[in-house]
Amino acid sequence: MADAGQMRRFWDERAREDPWYFVDNRLAYGNPDVQAFWAGGERDLDAILDALGVSVEPGDAVVDVGCGLGRLSRALAARAARVRAIDVSGEMLARARELNAHLSNVEWIEGDGVSLRPLEDAGADALVSHVVFQHIPDPEVTLGYVAEMGRVLRPGGWAAFQVSTDPRIHRRRPLAAFARRLRRSGPRGQDDAAWLGSAIDLDRLRAVAAGAGLALERVENPGTQFTLVLARSR
Ligand SMILES: C[S@@+](CC[C@H](N)C(=O)[O-])C[C@H]1O[C@@H](n2cnc3c(N)ncnc32)[C@H](O)[C@@H]1O
Repeated sequence: MADAGQMRRFWDERAREDPWYFVDNRLAYGNPDVQAFWAGGERDLDAILDALGVSVEPGDAVVDVGCGLGRLSRALAARAARVRAIDVSGEMLARARELNAHLSNVEWIEGDGVSLRPLEDAGADALVSHVVFQHIPDPEVTLGYVAEMGRVLRPGGWAAFQVSTDPRIHRRRPLAAFARRLRRSGPRGQDDAAWLGSAIDLDRLRAVAAGAGLALERVENPGTQFTLVLARSR
């Protein structure tokens, strides 16, 4: 089982280094286009919901797992009644709170890195997670989060989330790491297990989901780093 402390330390360090880049590495390192960052949150949320054929309703209580700076939480807050945004990194959350101080319907929660505690059972209508589980070094932790989704969703509630199902993406590349060390500039932590992450096995995902009372309604882009899953609580 991955060490939650290691994930927390890694993401706290990245939040101090350049939170914008490490939340969305399509941005320029050290020189973020902040407007593009927030616009990207709306776009990425729409892309997930459209691909999976679900929508957030005005009365919904929604959970954002691995919220980072609240890129998707902000977009969710405009559509839902209430958002609980959870992350393992207190440093990310401190910045998220400051950047989104104008949002009155978002609660920022420092999680334990392996579960959705302290969220209550069956209290959520919907759950979203974007580019989080791909970074988790141990697939068992990701599967543990899936079991937790079954706990926190109300019957009929849904979870729309990304996982990697391509193990090749997560291998260390010694030559690239060597070139990075020579350059000495640019983003750090690229060879850390908490950045490289892991892929999950879809059969295991189905089994864990079923055990947690979730039906996997859609699995899009299997075999890729960006497999999209729609799970619904029975
Ligand atoms: C690449 S960022 C994505 C942030 C956000 N979902 C977005 O798309 O804007 C990954 C986030 O996942 C969080 N994270 C990483 N491991 C986690 C874990 N085990 N539990 C909860 N959050 C985690 C990190 O702290 C970071 O904020």
